This record gives sequence, C-alpha cells and structure tokens, in this order.
Amino acid sequence: MLQLSLSWLGLGSVATSPWHLLLLGGASWCLVRLLVWIYTFYENYCRLRCFPQPPSGHWFWGHMGMVKSNEEGMQLMTELGHYYPDVHLFWFGAFYPILRLTHPKFIAPVLQAPAAVAPKEMTFYGFLKPWLGDGLLVSTGEKWSHQRRLLTPAFHFDILKPYVKVFNKSVNIMHVSLCVFVCMGWLKLLWGFMCVMLLSISGLPCRSPSEYIAAILELSSLIMKRHFQPILYVDFLYYLTADGRRFRKACDLVHNFTDAVIRERRRTLSSQSVDESVKAKAKSKTLDFIDVLLLAKDEHGEELSDEAIRAEADTFMFGGHDTTASGLSWTLYNLARHPEYQERCRQEVRELLRDREPEEIEWDDLAQLPFLTMCIKESLRLHPPVISISRCCTQDIVLPDGRVIPKGNDCIISIFGVHHNPTVWTDPEVYDPFRFDPENPQKRSPLAFIPFSAGPR
Ligand code: HEM
Repeated sequence: MLQLSLSWLGLGSVATSPWHLLLLGGASWCLVRLLVWIYTFYENYCRLRCFPQPPSGHWFWGHMGMVKSNEEGMQLMTELGHYYPDVHLFWFGAFYPILRLTHPKFIAPVLQAPAAVAPKEMTFYGFLKPWLGDGLLVSTGEKWSHQRRLLTPAFHFDILKPYVKVFNKSVNIMHVSLCVFVCMGWLKLLWGFMCVMLLSISGLPCRSPSEYIAAILELSSLIMKRHFQPILYVDFLYYLTADGRRFRKACDLVHNFTDAVIRERRRTLSSQSVDESVKAKAKSKTLDFIDVLLLAKDEHGEELSDEAIRAEADTFMFGGHDTTASGLSWTLYNLARHPEYQERCRQEVRELLRDREPEEIEWDDLAQLPFLTMCIKESLRLHPPVISISRCCTQDIVLPDGRVIPKGNDCIISIFGVHHNPTVWTDPEVYDPFRFDPENPQKRSPLAFIPFSAGPR
C-alpha cells in the first residue's frame, strides 16, 4: 500500500489508497476555490463601497424586499431616484450586487461601450433562453451582429407599409368593442363584455386567446416570478419546481406551434420560386415576418436554419406583444386623464381625415400627426413599457465622476429611473407632451429618453 507522509499535518505517516489521495486532492481543490472566491468577493465588495446603497438591506435577501412588480415597487423606485440621482448599489440576495444606473451621463459609458465590453448579462436574459433560443434579444456579439444584418430587410419601409391596413382594421375592431362597452353603460359592463365575446366567437371583434397566446402569457409571468426567487436562479433547482415544469410545458407548446407554422410555410415556398411567392404575397396580403425569415440569406447565400427562424419568431412575439399593448394602454390612459390633450389629438386626426372616404390613416399620414406623436412620446417617458435592461461589465468601466464599475459586475440600466430623474426632467411625474415639441427643442442628452434602449447590443 502507498505510504504517505502527512507529518506536516500532524498526522504522522499513514497508509493511504489512491482514493484517499483523490479525496484529499478534491477537498484541497474545493478549499482553494472557496478561498479564491471569498478573496475575489471581498475585493469586489471593497471596490463597490464607493457606491451608495439603500438602507434596510437584509443580511441574506439584501434589497430583494424592495423589488416589487407592482405600483408600490414603482413608487419605491421613483423615491430612490430622489435620493440617488445617478447610481446606487442593490443587493439581490447576499452575494449578488447590481449597480442601478439612473442618469444619462452614467448610463452612457455602459450603453455605448462595445458589445464585448458590456454585453447583455446572462442571469436574467438566461431565463429566456430555453424559450427564445439564440434570437436577437438573447444573443450577443458576433452572433447578434450576423442575425441583425440578416433581419434588417424585414424592417424595410416597403415591408412595413402594407401593415398600416392591418392597423386600421385592428383599430376598427377596438372601436366596435369600446362602443359596445359605452352603449351598454358601465353598470352593464360585464354583460357588454360577454356580448363582445359572443360577437368575437361569431367572427366579429377580437378572438378569444388561443392556447399559443395563453402559453406566451404564462411564460412571461413565470419569468417575472423567477426574478424574485434568487434560489431558483439555478436551473437545476428551478426545473424541479412546479413552476419550472409549467415553464417547460409552455415552452414545448410554443415551440411546437412555431415549428408547425415554419414547416407549413417552407412547403408552400418550396413549391414556388422566391420571386413568384413574394409577388403572390404582395398581391394578396402583407409579406409577414416568417416569410421574410424564410427568404433571408446572408452575404454567403446561407439561409437561416429552422431553429434560428423559430428563435426569431418567438423573440418577436415576446418582444412585440406586451410592449405595444402596454404602450397603447398607457397612452390612452394619459389622454383620458388629460381631456385637453385628447381633444387636440382628436382634432388633429379629424383634420387629417377630412373629406376622406374611407376614413383610414395611411403610411404618409404618420408624419402629419405631430401632437399625437408628442403625446405618445410623453407617455413612453412617463410609463415606459420596458422599465430596465441589464448588462454585464467584462472590463472596468469608468463613470463620469471617476468612480469605476469593477469588471465582472452586472448593471441595471433603469429606463424608468432615467425617465423619472428629477435632475434630468423638470416635474418628472407630470404628463406634459410639450417636452417633445419639435418647435421648441429642449437641451437634453439623447440618452434622457430611451424607451427602446440604445447603443450596440
Ligand atoms: C412600445 C413598443 C416597444 C418598446 C417600448 C420596446 C422596447 C425594447 C427595448 C427597451 C429593447 C432593448 C432590450 C435590450 O437591449 O436588452 C428592445 C429590444 C427588442 N425589441 Fe422591442 N420594444 C417595443 C416593440 C417591439 C416590437 C413591436 C417588436 C417586434 C415585433 C420588438 C422586438 C424587439 C427585439 C427583437 C429586440 C431585440 C433587439 C436586439 O437586441 O437587436 N419590440 N425593445
């Protein structure tokens, strides 16, 4: 048997097997890793001391108790903005510090850094990966640039223009629904709602949500819930929970649906030449997103794989549905609270549609609605549909006041915080469309208004 002298450990000379050696080696490796981690954590902790943090952090949960996805949480964020107008530190649990940036000057070095220096952080975006794969929202670096180049033609004006017809149709459906509510009176709201549902079933206004839409809504709410459960950030643990299993099930449903659409479209496309199918589509209806993806080719003539198409289609469904719904709802809400602005918008539209039959907005009209545009922008400022995005600093990043975000830390760019920052916006809580009056441009940073984010991704 192998003899090993462990006298330096005070154990004298012991007989030991290779397993003992392996165990000792493993234990030493773990110990070294732990010490390195503690040292790195402590060093980082000291470097982060220059950033203020809200009081009342729990020793284990940190500031998690302050993060709430409801009105109270938003009010708290607004209050924090008054105390910390540029940057502060938040602890997501005992070991996960995050810097929250709330001033245009302070978000600039992060948002405008090359994608390799401040890529999307993968803790939160990683939750989306099983659903959205390597779609534009989750991918970074070279992969992101490649996909982005391929997808740029999807947003060419010629492709977007025919969608104005779809918008008009959707607006008409919304009007009918609202008229039913108004005519029935609010007391009979429930009855009216049921009528709308019945009309929908018979093919008139909005359809009842399909399984696919229900799955998307479930995925979105499960992801939000997971944000507040740091222990479940570990995939292995998450997928053991009931929520994790529901997440997987909903992912499968969404993927099967998108796959079926792609297969069907590929079959149709392969029976026609590319030109033929584009012409046929252009004649009959709008060229939709799946068609554009199926026809996309990179500079080497390479097409997107079915997996890549699915990732993008799922990404656009996720990125496009709740943001626009929220943006529209808040605009309507703000106009309802300010009848004087609502009336001005109505007059602007009426003027535009005067003597027009049918009364439909066209593409070129969109630039002829300056006041409505100001109202929408102000609503996106006051109630941004995406309240924050996050980035990871792969290098030290110097802030304008000389403080440094140490390499390896994650940052939250608080879109809500910037839009409500009292040092950037006068009376930030007031809905005032004239802030965006093009005839009276105000001196402010281009990063003061970032509902759609900015910079490389
Ligand atoms: C009011 C409407 C919208 C708002 C406020 C909004 C906001 C945002 C924001 C803040 C980001 C940046 C995310 C990040 O950098 O981490 C983003 C990215 C993205 N959004 Fe939207 N969005 C809106 C509508 C849409 C629509 C209608 C679609 C698609 C149909 C869409 C698709 C995407 C995609 C694909 C990305 C990723 C882009 C990239 O990384 O290159 N969004 N959006």
